[in-house]
Amino acid sequence: MNNLKTPVYVIDEKKLRENCEILKSVQDRSGARILLAQKAFSAYSTYPLIAEYLLGTTASGLYEAKLAYEEFHRKNEASNKPEVHVFEPAFHDEEMIELCEIADHIVFNSLNQLEHHRHTWEKAVSKGQLSVGLRVNPEFSTQDGHEIYDPCAPGSRLGIRLCDMPDRLPEGVEGIHFHTLCEQGFEPLKETFEFFEKKFERFLPDKNDHENKSALKWINLGGGHHITKPDYDREGLIKLIKYIKDTYAVEVYLEPGEAIALDAGYLITTVMDIVKTDRLPVLILDTSAACHMPDVLEMPYRPPLKDSGELNEKAYNYRLSSRTCLAGDVIGDYSFAKEIKIGDRLTFEDMAIYSMVKNNTFNGMPLPDIAIRRVDGKCEVVKTFGYNDFKMRL
Ligand SMILES: Cc1ncc(COP(=O)(O)O)c(C=O)c1O
Repeated sequence: MNNLKTPVYVIDEKKLRENCEILKSVQDRSGARILLAQKAFSAYSTYPLIAEYLLGTTASGLYEAKLAYEEFHRKNEASNKPEVHVFEPAFHDEEMIELCEIADHIVFNSLNQLEHHRHTWEKAVSKGQLSVGLRVNPEFSTQDGHEIYDPCAPGSRLGIRLCDMPDRLPEGVEGIHFHTLCEQGFEPLKETFEFFEKKFERFLPDKNDHENKSALKWINLGGGHHITKPDYDREGLIKLIKYIKDTYAVEVYLEPGEAIALDAGYLITTVMDIVKTDRLPVLILDTSAACHMPDVLEMPYRPPLKDSGELNEKAYNYRLSSRTCLAGDVIGDYSFAKEIKIGDRLTFEDMAIYSMVKNNTFNGMPLPDIAIRRVDGKCEVVKTFGYNDFKMRL
């Protein structure tokens, strides 16, 4: 990694495989179908690797759906076509036409959207190519203080509330989707499902109807499950999925994003200058929170940095910042055992998720290259960027 030009995102294949193995074992033991939520991680050169473990992907719209359709091939399968699922609060008519050609599941966010596109999706459903679902809002918040990531927060536009649902599932609807979690353990999912089960009972198949003659064929529990964290209660999750499948005879889908590439990437940067201030000395890096790790500012959070400590934990304290014009483009305050020099390289950790998919060229900042560290330790640069990537968007 020491020879890579910075800034560079490095995807760690070993860790990615370890995460995928955990998810596959949950999939195999519970009977759930687990999808990669591409919004978190869409470095598609790794899709063939992920496809060795997972059945498909979910998309936030047409472009991610196309990317999965083109790149997420499942070797050694009778059909190597991935499962392509998509949810978006609203679709343009021409997007719906294209999506109906490639998607297996389309989830609508409102009855308006369902009916508006009915004449298009019904054709694909009648050919047996597509299944359609509705996203509901269980109105059960499990997150403290992160309203920006809480689809159950008051005033949320995401998912249909029970009070806006009809008496029975509209004609042609076979699935219910909810997504309410963000970076959470099993307990909040369990509580949410119990609440959903009571509240949306009239849409669920009769508990004694073991062959499920009702319209509902699948339930999608969304993303936000930190399944690959060491302390995640995976046995609890497996039990819950089995309960849902046994009780209602439906397929159960999970669509985690973060869990797939958690801790599976780095962002390597070079110290370009050190500026004295009336407070901490500031390291000017060739990366930027605003451009290359926007969640640091949006969430906000302090990214883990290799060989560093909290402020005052080690001998030398610095504020880590960037070469953009934005005064608040600050990554965080860190301490180091040795004095930092211009030209030193620093490695931010857990940088595979919500980084490459969100980056931008504000200030004309170069985009970091993308490399993969293979299991044998060798690094391969899979993508480089230059001036044209900035110019072509403007
Ligand atoms: C509908 C939906 N599914 C899945 C995900 C993936 O969530 P995460 O990456 O937190 O697992 C999200 C994230 O916002 C989402 O909105």
